[in-house]
Amino acid sequence: MSINAETQLYGLIGDPVSKSLSPFIHNYVFENQGLNKRYMAFRVKSEDLETSLNGMRTLGVGGFNATIPHKIALLEIVDELDPYVQQLKAINTVKIQHGKMKGYNTDGPGMIQALLDHGVALQESKILIVGAGGAARGIALALALKGCDTIGVLNRTEAKAKILVDMINAMDTESKGQVATLKSDLMLYDVVINTTSVGMYPKVDEIPLNLALVRRDSVLVDIVYKPHMTRFLREGKNLGNPIVHGIEMLIYQALIADEIWLDIELDKSKLKEELIALAIEKGLLL
Ligand code: ATR
Repeated sequence: MSINAETQLYGLIGDPVSKSLSPFIHNYVFENQGLNKRYMAFRVKSEDLETSLNGMRTLGVGGFNATIPHKIALLEIVDELDPYVQQLKAINTVKIQHGKMKGYNTDGPGMIQALLDHGVALQESKILIVGAGGAARGIALALALKGCDTIGVLNRTEAKAKILVDMINAMDTESKGQVATLKSDLMLYDVVINTTSVGMYPKVDEIPLNLALVRRDSVLVDIVYKPHMTRFLREGKNLGNPIVHGIEMLIYQALIADEIWLDIELDKSKLKEELIALAIEKGLLL
């Protein structure tokens, strides 16, 4: 569909954004759905955040995603927060309707959808999160809201793991948060999620965890999506572990954002498969 006077714009704001796969994903969905919409990435510095939001409002932009460094600053600027965002305290998706902005977070739900796809029974699962940064927090709190049995946090800096575990345990949920160390029994975990940048280009030869420490039937999940096959996933696969690629969570957070913007239900699993195949074919995950 060609761009014309009625094309509606959606976008990504962040700094940097030039390597983002979001335009590829959202434009594929818009085209697939036959919608006269386009998605573009905009590099926006922190000091320009409010000005850029006013611009989007006046230009009739339908919605946008936010990435580093705007996810927290947006909390104070949007008009309304989804109840889930009130607990999570970070926004990655904003819907603009009748000039009002509502903030959502689809990062955690994206991970949950990826785990469900791979048959993880969330409520019975003991899940180990490696890392304790912003991405770990979003995933841990989403899992806690789903009532996962146990959420362990293993981090290079143990004090940060403790902060995240305290957040989990302060929530009104059945999930039990616990600090994990390399000396604790990591065999008890059914799922291991790497949320650190270890394994990401250029650290491709690094691995976040010695895989001898985890069970062979533990599902290994990476949020690193470049390269598609990180060392963590490659070694795990060779040892017989089920694996979940980082691109799956990325695609699902985008598709859930599309569902919010468009007020429709998408066949997310089918779109995910198509998008992964296309991304590999185009060399986008190298
Ligand atoms: P993000 O918001 O993307 O999660 P972040 O907040 O900087 O990024 O968090 C990065 C996480 O990866 C942290 O848990 C960090 O560990 P520290 O808290 O000890 O800094 C972890 N991390 C980054 N590089 C690492 C490395 N080489 N080895 C182990 N952990 C690493």
